[in-house]
Amino acid sequence: MSNQNIYDNETFFEGYKTLRAAETNYNDLLEQPAMAKMLPDLTEKSVLDLGCGYGHNCIDFVHRGVKRVVGVDISEKMLEVAKTESAHEKTEYVNMSMTDIAKLGETFDFIYSSLAFHYIKDFDAFAKEMYSVLNVGGQLLFSQEHPIITATIDGNGHFNKNLKGKRVSYTFSNYNEPGERKVHWYVDGVIKYHRTFSNVINALAKAGFVIEEVCEPTPEDWAVEKLPTIVKEYIKPNFLIVKARKV
Ligand SMILES: C[S@@+](CC[C@H](N)C(=O)[O-])C[C@H]1O[C@@H](n2cnc3c(N)ncnc32)[C@H](O)[C@@H]1O
Repeated sequence: MSNQNIYDNETFFEGYKTLRAAETNYNDLLEQPAMAKMLPDLTEKSVLDLGCGYGHNCIDFVHRGVKRVVGVDISEKMLEVAKTESAHEKTEYVNMSMTDIAKLGETFDFIYSSLAFHYIKDFDAFAKEMYSVLNVGGQLLFSQEHPIITATIDGNGHFNKNLKGKRVSYTFSNYNEPGERKVHWYVDGVIKYHRTFSNVINALAKAGFVIEEVCEPTPEDWAVEKLPTIVKEYIKPNFLIVKARKV
């Protein structure tokens, strides 16, 4: 089955744009700060950003001194934004599925991906593809929706509240049933793939990667000040971040 391109759906695209423009989105409060802390030195590195979206990370990498950054995305609409908002002589944007990265005919020092790998069906095969386009000594840093989030078949995991209305626990199910999840997110039928924590780590290990760091981010004080309800991240994590190396 070919990869779904939901970000080119007009309703989805507009919904996602509104989410990212909001001052209190989880990307800016939680996921991006954690990813930034795990970035290696990028001076003079060649970088591949998979599912680069608006290209905001690509332009950040330029400011961090990269030699060149290639942003790949399946969505034409996301790349239209990237080409206007995140254009630079050191950036190149390629409209294709990240599962086709071998077609780039190039190898890289660093592969980065923010919140896109849960759209990939066969992560075992994809981990091998990434390994083959990474230079020896190169690193992979990616975030994805946490397996606790992707687990429940209909996407409807939920918080449970005590009698005072305070969130105290989280219910999810189907954890040990990896595979497709069809959820409603702005539109019906958004396809994501659930993998257990061990599925993710084993796919990387079997491809040859050495895992260097794993993070399930919790909010810092400044983020809690901006959005007090984000303390619910202490009940269950939203994101899984992994840093790995080709040795
Ligand atoms: C949640 S957005 C994240 C965008 C960007 N990484 C960021 O952090 O702002 C996920 C992105 O992954 C892209 N995507 C999903 N499936 C893809 C695939 N098979 N190949 C390339 N890009 C894909 C989407 O089009 C979208 O731009």
